[in-house]
Amino acid sequence: MRSRKIGVSLVSAVALALVAACSSTTGAGSDGSSAPADGDSAQPVVAFSQEGLENDWRLENTDSIRSSLEDAGYKVLYQQADEDQARQVEQVQNLLQQKPDILVVEPAEQEAATPIAALAEAAGVPLIVADRALGVEPSADTQYKVLITQNWEQMGTKLGEASVQLLTKLNGEPKGNIVELVGVLGSAPQVAMDKGFAAAIAEYPDIKILDAQDGDNKRAPGRQIMENYLTRYPAGDIDMVWSQNDEMGIGALAAIQEAGRDELVGTIVSKDGQTDAIEQVAKGNFANVCTNTPYFGPIILPYVQKILAGEPLETTTPDKPFACFESITDKGKAEAQAQFDELTAANAKFANR
Ligand code: AHR
Repeated sequence: MRSRKIGVSLVSAVALALVAACSSTTGAGSDGSSAPADGDSAQPVVAFSQEGLENDWRLENTDSIRSSLEDAGYKVLYQQADEDQARQVEQVQNLLQQKPDILVVEPAEQEAATPIAALAEAAGVPLIVADRALGVEPSADTQYKVLITQNWEQMGTKLGEASVQLLTKLNGEPKGNIVELVGVLGSAPQVAMDKGFAAAIAEYPDIKILDAQDGDNKRAPGRQIMENYLTRYPAGDIDMVWSQNDEMGIGALAAIQEAGRDELVGTIVSKDGQTDAIEQVAKGNFANVCTNTPYFGPIILPYVQKILAGEPLETTTPDKPFACFESITDKGKAEAQAQFDELTAANAKFANR
């Protein structure tokens, strides 16, 4: 189990020591962090805590947020936690000690990141949470002002329905065995997508999830886990792959192709809308990909501006819209090809929706 639960009091001493050690730091840190330089004290300061830089999605996401805020004239104090939830909570304490005007957090896990809301409350700093939810909800009368995210449960349902459709096509009826590549156990997307996916397959007792392992949303672990599945389950035991992000799916496809397990080519369902994955849909090597744009900067910016201006706002944003591409039909493949061509022409790593 990847989840690590921690308490605020436990991290306090470490964080205070960290703050003392870091308080005079200026410029970029070795982890890409930025700390305040002496400068224009009237310039509003946004602290941005990123859970990690595990893949291209997260790199694009980080760049989008930082550049949108900086281009709008904010000073950004930035730290990333290498996907370590305990470290991220410490970093948030460190950032809050520097008295930013507002805090933006993209957490790693759901429950273990929840103390961040109490930290912002105690510091009197308004909090925006983006991408992955905490275990508490935002509300108008607390510092946790707004959650900006995807409807993960709905996306899990959509991918579950696509899986039922695929298995019905493969086996003549809705039945078959699924192996799953989990995207960070205990994270909000994992919890909600698995719920939605389970609901979509619930009425088909002959559809089963045979195995599920955490691949951390990364390509190499996705490939390694798939290699293990292929060793453990001979041809005929597995019907399809449910990958909780494109990076793991691309790793799994490489393992499938290298092992010559051709029966599994074209059976991966996944999410993110990475250009490389949409290409694999167009080629028929993935069955389905739903988009999950990493380009959050322009989405977050108006909320930062409203909160700092003291304007009232809704505590939840409209769900980020998403689109899905499938290779089960020729029409679907053609649409995936058109999307791939568009993204390639724009030199974009991900769909912007
Ligand atoms: O929380 C969103 C997920 O985080 C993206 O789908 C994934 O690629 C990233 O690691």
